[in-house]
Amino acid sequence: MRTPLCDTLGIDAPVVLAPISRGAALAAAVSNAGGLGQFQGSWLSPDGLRETIREARALTARPFAVNLVLEWPQHERLAVLLEEGVRLVSFHWGDPAPYVPAVHAAGGLVLSTVASAEEARQAVAAGVDAVVAQGWEAGGHVRGEVSTLALVPAVVDGVSPVPVIAAGGIADGRTLAAALALGAQAGWVGTRFVATVEAPVHEDYKRRLVGAVETDTLLSTLFDVGWRGAPSRALVNSTVRRWREAGCPPDGSRPGEGEVVARAAEGYEVVRYAADDPLAGMAGEIEAMATYAGQGVALVRDVVPAAAVVRGLVEEARRVLADLAS
Ligand SMILES: Cc1cc2nc3c(=O)[nH]c(=O)nc-3n(C[C@H](O)[C@H](O)[C@H](O)COP(=O)(O)O)c2cc1C
Repeated sequence: MRTPLCDTLGIDAPVVLAPISRGAALAAAVSNAGGLGQFQGSWLSPDGLRETIREARALTARPFAVNLVLEWPQHERLAVLLEEGVRLVSFHWGDPAPYVPAVHAAGGLVLSTVASAEEARQAVAAGVDAVVAQGWEAGGHVRGEVSTLALVPAVVDGVSPVPVIAAGGIADGRTLAAALALGAQAGWVGTRFVATVEAPVHEDYKRRLVGAVETDTLLSTLFDVGWRGAPSRALVNSTVRRWREAGCPPDGSRPGEGEVVARAAEGYEVVRYAADDPLAGMAGEIEAMATYAGQGVALVRDVVPAAAVVRGLVEEARRVLADLAS
């Protein structure tokens, strides 16, 4: 199952791992399985970023992408990516225009997440090579208010022939087939890959995803310590329930603000309402942290190797499309 974008990106299957973690092993596993692996560069130090890129390169000879969130200036990290030979760079949450020329000058391609056809047109005018249309049902930080089903065809029509990747709710072959039917050239898959063996997140987080259904998430600005005012979708947990029971008070008067709920293996503390998600090695009230998940979480039924997810997505999508054609 190939689309023209697969050729552009140098991948075999129209499956992109969304930047859900800083893990090189997960990114490499997806790339080795024929999809496009990717990791978050946004919060790594320049040296940490360099190290993670080298680690990924030691684990795969295939292409992978690195993501930068433009809520903060990222020129220094982008320079590291390009120095280290990364040629696929994705941006989220900001104007990619100041960053595109450096990537192109290095011979690279830019992917940028959008939440409307208008934003997609602006991204393309800035030189972006492919747009990621992120629907409202997506897990993690979500800017828009339009569902994937309505957004993707609007973006496809708005920027054709620039390729569009669909994000939000793609978690099995049926939803991947639907995204392709809407005109997307690949699926950008987040929540499904959090529940994989290689994802460097806490096991309790993975278990909670497996146990959750489509009504178990909330899009809110509740988990905002470290990233103010940015809506994100996460599982409803004890922190959300306590806040609701208190009448949904604003920042500054939410129950338990400032309480330490967990500690990372490196020793730093995570407070209630922090934007940090539970990483492997953290200890404490893991359940009370921001456990990001999209509404497609209902389709996550097991924790499996990332390669099995890529294979399952492609095989099922192929079957669904063949059944529909007949
Ligand atoms: C745990 C988690 C962390 C995420 N972190 C980022 C990030 O750093 N940068 C980014 O562009 N998107 C991030 N996202 C959003 C994804 O890129 C993507 O839009 C979303 O996961 C797609 O929806 P889905 O979760 O239903 O597959 C994150 C999503 C999750 C679930």
